[in-house]
Amino acid sequence: MVPESKKNHRRVISRTSTLPNQNEYTLALDRELSHVAFSEERAGQWKGLWQTEIFRASQHLGDVNRPARPLDLEIGTGNGTFFAAQAKRFPERDLIGIELKYKPLIQTIRRALRDGAENAIVIRYHAFNIEDLFAPNELNDIYIHFPDPWVAPRKPKNRVVGQPILDSLFEMQKSGSALNFKTDSREYFLWAMDEIRKTKYLIEFETMNLHQSLWREKNFETAFEKIFLKKNIEINFVRLIKP
Ligand SMILES: C[S@@+](CC[C@H](N)C(=O)[O-])C[C@H]1O[C@@H](n2cnc3c(N)ncnc32)[C@H](O)[C@@H]1O
Repeated sequence: MVPESKKNHRRVISRTSTLPNQNEYTLALDRELSHVAFSEERAGQWKGLWQTEIFRASQHLGDVNRPARPLDLEIGTGNGTFFAAQAKRFPERDLIGIELKYKPLIQTIRRALRDGAENAIVIRYHAFNIEDLFAPNELNDIYIHFPDPWVAPRKPKNRVVGQPILDSLFEMQKSGSALNFKTDSREYFLWAMDEIRKTKYLIEFETMNLHQSLWREKNFETAFEKIFLKKNIEINFVRLIKP
């Protein structure tokens, strides 16, 4: 049951199997990539079970006898440059990417597989429905890089990094985990910081110019970040901790 307070944040999205016009990306979800790419229809059944039933039990990804690994999440993977690099850099962690659009979703998992990933899967899902996917304390670190800012026309209720979604993500994370948020939009960032202050997260690091900050050495430039940097747009970044 979805609590009454959260119902108005949910979004209805198309079901992959009933799309009138299928293409190579929509079809890949239920065919050649079905072991590592989940449609919104197949994903819901694994809530709370991603480690035991998918990462440790799938013949492609798992070994039932190995210990559970930390499970990280990227929301809005785009074409997956960060996702693939992250999966490769941390083979001792598992990684799930969620993405709404089919082409970037499939590009993301193909890129990770090309890089040899055995610790990564993607899900076609709307971030506003995230509570269907993960149980309390199921997740470790979360990455949200350049979500669409919804500044014109101004529609803050459509922004992913607002209090309702942050409250859900907080419950899903294990204590001590981090949530990393980057955006090119100063307007979104300032609004999001006000939303963040209403949540239970602690702010570990905050900057309105990531590339001139102490965090720049640890930063990975995503595909969209490269575009913004070429235009000399300063990148806003905050790292939150669930105490
Ligand atoms: C501006 S792109 C950034 C992509 C990538 N993170 C990067 O930094 O290069 C935003 C991505 O988030 C996805 N997205 C937007 N809203 C979403 C939502 N509610 N749920 C899941 N993905 C979403 C879009 O489809 C798009 O691929």
